[in-house]
Amino acid sequence: MFSKYKKPNAPKNPPAASGSKPKVALSPAAAPKVEEPSKSLMKPRPEKRAADPGVADKEKRRKERLADIKLELHKALLDNLNLAALESASEQELRNEINAIANETLEDMGIVLNRDERQTLSQDLFFEVTGLGPLETLLKDDTVNDILVNGPQQIFVERAGRLELTDITFKDEKHLLRIIDKIVSAVGRRVDESNPYVDARLADGSRFNAMVPPIAVDGSLVSIRKFKKDKLGIEDLVKFGAFTEEMAAYLQAAVATRLNVIVSGGTGSGKTTTLNALSSFIDDAERILTIEDTAELQLQQTHVGRMESRPPNVEGKGGVSQRDCLKNALRMRPDRIIVGETRGEEVIDMLQAMNTGHDGSMTTIHANSARDGVSRLENMIAMAGIEMPIKAMRSQISSAVNLIVQASRLQDGSRRMTSITEITGMEGEVISMQEVFRYQRVGLTPDNKIIGHFTATGVRSHFSERFKLWGYDLPPAIFEPMVAE
Ligand SMILES: Nc1ncnc2c1ncn2[C@@H]1O[C@H](COP(=O)(O)OP(=O)(O)OP(=O)(O)O)[C@@H](O)[C@H]1O
Ligand SMILES: [Mg+2]
Repeated sequence: MFSKYKKPNAPKNPPAASGSKPKVALSPAAAPKVEEPSKSLMKPRPEKRAADPGVADKEKRRKERLADIKLELHKALLDNLNLAALESASEQELRNEINAIANETLEDMGIVLNRDERQTLSQDLFFEVTGLGPLETLLKDDTVNDILVNGPQQIFVERAGRLELTDITFKDEKHLLRIIDKIVSAVGRRVDESNPYVDARLADGSRFNAMVPPIAVDGSLVSIRKFKKDKLGIEDLVKFGAFTEEMAAYLQAAVATRLNVIVSGGTGSGKTTTLNALSSFIDDAERILTIEDTAELQLQQTHVGRMESRPPNVEGKGGVSQRDCLKNALRMRPDRIIVGETRGEEVIDMLQAMNTGHDGSMTTIHANSARDGVSRLENMIAMAGIEMPIKAMRSQISSAVNLIVQASRLQDGSRRMTSITEITGMEGEVISMQEVFRYQRVGLTPDNKIIGHFTATGVRSHFSERFKLWGYDLPPAIFEPMVAE
């Protein structure tokens, strides 16, 4: 059976072992009438639908024909449109102009299209001229979180935590490269064989990364994290089951009483979203400085200074790292510093800031658990070339960081805060921690949805006194573990 992600003309898997008989595909008719109960210990994989080859072929040919026509038309448009006048034209004027040129060219080519085809074509052409071609529909689709392009013929999107293959394609690698070039040149960057990868921010704020051949082997790779105008807030996250109201009350106390918080998690697990939501608990009177590689955070407070680092240019000049921003931020009288993601040498300054009066600072790191997060911090310090005895390093971390919040994307696509862990000090050479809340998984539904619940672990918060002193007297019931029914 073929994967639905395989292109119809992709080479088939070779037989497993040479000399073994080629496998015969089991059509329903050829399948044995009574199926033996499977002895395999493995769970059956979800059925994948094989497309009807006839229909798929016809559809493919239709799409190829349309793509060829589009290319011709696009050339004609570039020859005929007055690009300088485009800037001042209204959308309707531009659409009319494009349609007029398209109709004329189609007539010259002797091609007749049906209404639907004409409409799709005119919309696609509009996007080609004004926007990012095939990507434009996906950028406009609010249900899409991520867009992932693997060469011109394969575009995946992430919706509700799940990856899906779309039927949108680029005409060829040249077309894809042209769109990439359009994006990066708009931000004054370049991408080519000698600079094969680039980070940029799209005009709408989406985070964009591209890598082109020859480093990208099968065609350019593009990853876009869509910018959400309405970031998920604490209430939304509670409603979506990312964490409970009790956990939210605890986090509110933690942020308001200026604990230093690290949000840890895997890629796309919701770190930035969590950080952004947590920041809503910061008092409006405080001066907050944010430092990011790509500005994604949207803080609601009035007093926010935003910084975005910059890679060096082609000559290797003009780079401003997160560490540079952080050092400078310390001279800008911040009450709190928020670093979008700590991934390198800036860790030193971040920990120092947390230790020296900028408590209440926050950042995210890439790690799979609180313990793992601490090891990541240690590694980053070591990689930054700071020679420090391990005990000194750990004591620096344990006094800087108060709380590690773990964000996870689970296998069913749901995103949850799977653990909240407090750092309580040092025992010998080891950093001591206690988990206060966790997500307890109990099973899986037949359609592979995770069954589980959040629970307190029953430990008393190390910061209870502090919370109380600051006026956040959390009811003890928050910390009582859930009793299984
Ligand atoms: N609890 C949630 N429920 C539904 N969607 C969520 C949730 N948390 C985050 N998302 C969505 O998931 C996507 C990824 O989130 P986010 O950017 O916060 O992840 P990240 O861990 O910072 O990713 P990266 O490692 O790429 O920086 C976003 O589109 C966001 O809106
Ligand atoms: Mg992020």
